[in-house]
Amino acid sequence: MFMELSGQQGVLSLLLWYLSFSTADLTWPCPQMCVCRQDTLEINCSSKHLTSVPEGLPGNAKQLDLSGNRLKTLSRRQFYGLSKLEELDLGDNIISMIEVEAFQGLKNLRFLRLKRNRLKILPVGVFSGLPNLRSLDVSENEILVFLDYTFQEMGNLMEMNAGENDLVFISHRAFFGLRSLQELNVDRSNLSSIPTEALSQLQNLAKLRLRRLTINVLPNNAFRHLHQLRTLQILQWPSLDTLNSNSLIGLNLSTLVISSCNLSSVPYASLRHLVYLRYLDLSYNPIRSIQGNSLEELLRLQEFHLAGGNLLSIEPGAFKGLVYFRLLNVSSNRLTTLEESAFHSVGNLQTLRLDRNPLTCDCRLLWVVRRRLRLNFDGRQPACSGPALARRREFREFLEVELPAVFACRQARILNRQPQDIKTEEGANVRFECRADGHPAPSVTWLTPEQTPLSSTGRLRVLVNGSLEVRYAQAQDTGSYLCVAANAAGNDSISAHLLVHSVPRNYTTPSFFDEGWFETSLPPFSNSSGRVPRPYPFDAKTLIIATTMGFLSFLSSVAICFVFMFFWSQSKGQIKHTATIDFVPRTSMGGGGDGADGGRFTMKLI
Ligand SMILES: *[C@@H]1O[C@H](CO)[C@@H](O)[C@H](O)[C@H]1NC(C)=O
Ligand SMILES: *[C@@H]1O[C@H](CO)[C@@H](O)[C@H](O)[C@H]1NC(C)=O
Ligand SMILES: *[C@@H]1O[C@H](CO)[C@@H](O)[C@H](O)[C@H]1NC(C)=O
Ligand SMILES: *[C@@H]1O[C@H](CO)[C@@H](O)[C@H](O)[C@H]1NC(C)=O
Ligand SMILES: *[C@@H]1O[C@H](CO)[C@@H](O)[C@H](O)[C@H]1NC(C)=O
Ligand SMILES: *[C@@H]1O[C@H](CO)[C@@H](O)[C@H](O)[C@H]1NC(C)=O
Ligand SMILES: *[C@@H]1O[C@H](CO)[C@@H](O)[C@H](O)[C@H]1NC(C)=O
Ligand SMILES: *[C@@H]1O[C@H](CO)[C@@H](O)[C@H](O)[C@H]1NC(C)=O
Ligand SMILES: *[C@@H]1O[C@H](CO)[C@@H](O)[C@H](O)[C@H]1NC(C)=O
Repeated sequence: MFMELSGQQGVLSLLLWYLSFSTADLTWPCPQMCVCRQDTLEINCSSKHLTSVPEGLPGNAKQLDLSGNRLKTLSRRQFYGLSKLEELDLGDNIISMIEVEAFQGLKNLRFLRLKRNRLKILPVGVFSGLPNLRSLDVSENEILVFLDYTFQEMGNLMEMNAGENDLVFISHRAFFGLRSLQELNVDRSNLSSIPTEALSQLQNLAKLRLRRLTINVLPNNAFRHLHQLRTLQILQWPSLDTLNSNSLIGLNLSTLVISSCNLSSVPYASLRHLVYLRYLDLSYNPIRSIQGNSLEELLRLQEFHLAGGNLLSIEPGAFKGLVYFRLLNVSSNRLTTLEESAFHSVGNLQTLRLDRNPLTCDCRLLWVVRRRLRLNFDGRQPACSGPALARRREFREFLEVELPAVFACRQARILNRQPQDIKTEEGANVRFECRADGHPAPSVTWLTPEQTPLSSTGRLRVLVNGSLEVRYAQAQDTGSYLCVAANAAGNDSISAHLLVHSVPRNYTTPSFFDEGWFETSLPPFSNSSGRVPRPYPFDAKTLIIATTMGFLSFLSSVAICFVFMFFWSQSKGQIKHTATIDFVPRTSMGGGGDGADGGRFTMKLI
């Protein structure tokens, strides 16, 4: 047994070693400075200022801790003979160089930790002779590239941490041979694109964590062939603002985290095929709303986290169809309310984080406060920001008897109820009023005689104050319009009548052109047949300028005008099919001006 000690160690150290040895362990050699436990076959040489791997390690050791030393290099067959070793910790050294086959002979090694060293490169063959390795940690080094076949002999490796390196490139076949790898972490790297090709070698990968990358778009088919992947975590990509709609295609995830990125909306299109998804976390993205009826396809979804976002609203039906839904975490947003209608059924909801939102306590939140003893708020009670009498009170403080008074709403009510009947002539602008009050402030919608809601744009539009404006009234606008004011407590409606006389008119009437109407609205005629054509859009001044500019440049200006006119007429859903242009041919061009009309041509618009 003493023979195993190398000659390098002097008699003194031999003596020291002998003295430092506990009496119980006399039968097991332990290198000087290390602490050994024979019962567990552990050798602990952690933080002993070692500059090289100690000699004379017992061949039957199972665990060797060399972390926190000053090791610089590992030479070939450095650990040869430690065939029983299962765990080797080389973390927190200053290793910058590992020779090929350094770990040769560690047939039973299962855990290898090289965290926090100064490795810049992993030569191919470094990891040969480690057939049973399960877990490899090379994080917090300075590795720049993973070369082809670096890990090829590690058919049993299940977990790898490659985080916190300076990776700029992962070669296409770098992960070749990692048949059993289930979990991969890549944290803070300088990769500028997803290593799609390299990852596609990992047929059994179940969990992938990509943290702190500077990529702004997740391209289509970013994660090809990862059929076993169940958990994908994309964390802290500050510039990620786009998920292409097929970016997650081919994946069958149960957990997806895309947090602390720059997404401004929920990426519905990329998610919809993830029908086995149970956990979705989009926290810390500047997302403003969760739309209604858009997550229906995620049938098995149980948890949705969007904490620390920019949420202003969660629309009715947001979680419709999600029968297993039991946790919503929307802490720290800008929500003023959360209506029961957002959920498929609030009966299944167990946990709700709604704290740190400027909540207006009224009847819309009654369902939450009524469940305040049953719902799990995760230790963070929601509190009211308004109305004044409830400000800053936490939900659990309210007594049952107070609820009807505090969490109250007043039904929407339309204020100006006098009949509105307007008779007008074609071309006029008219306005109907609809002012409503209630608590919470009601929304006002106007329905056309055909019962379709009007928007805030278009010739017929709803103004911010609820008025309906009809610009350039036309005969077909005649009919009854309905104003509906609605809030959580109910709705109210009132109708208004418009009668537009159609009168044949001519263009000298100024009302056609008043108030910039000419630029913003429909041409005066619904069709061109049987009506006076429009006046030419060019006046004499324009023509004089055109002739002095020269014929060619004039033509190009005309072309630009046509493009404008085309898009303008398209956007109004109405196409004027022909346009006639007059021009004064310049004398130099006179010979060319052989048009039948002499200085006039007609173009067809399509
Ligand atoms: C080795 O000892 C250090 C303290 O000296 C301790 O922190 C560390 O956990 C030990 N290593 C093992 C593998 O037990
Ligand atoms: C990687 O990125 C970090 C931070 O952006 C930078 O400091 C470092 O120089 C980069 N390394 C390489 C090799 O590009
Ligand atoms: C995030 O997106 C906003 C606009 O959508 C942009 O102004 C901002 O610069 C982006 N942030 C980063 C870190 O790219
Ligand atoms: C998707 O994953 C679930 C488990 O989360 C599994 O039951 C299902 O069979 C998988 N589907 C496919 C097509 O692989
Ligand atoms: C909600 O999100 C916050 C922020 O991410 C987190 O700290 C908290 O644990 C989450 N709560 C639950 C119940 O998941
Ligand atoms: C609504 O707004 C329009 C213009 O923005 C204004 O002319 C009209 O008087 C307003 N109506 C009411 C009822 O305030
Ligand atoms: C108004 O209320 C009635 C019943 O109270 C309901 O059927 C109708 O859908 C509501 N309309 C709107 C626009 O909310
Ligand atoms: C155009 O209208 C004006 C008055 O509105 C009328 O005096 C004039 O005769 C009309 N011209 C044509 C061509 O109808
Ligand atoms: C133009 O309108 C008249 C009556 O308004 C109609 O008879 C005619 O068919 C319309 N022509 C076209 C091309 O739409």
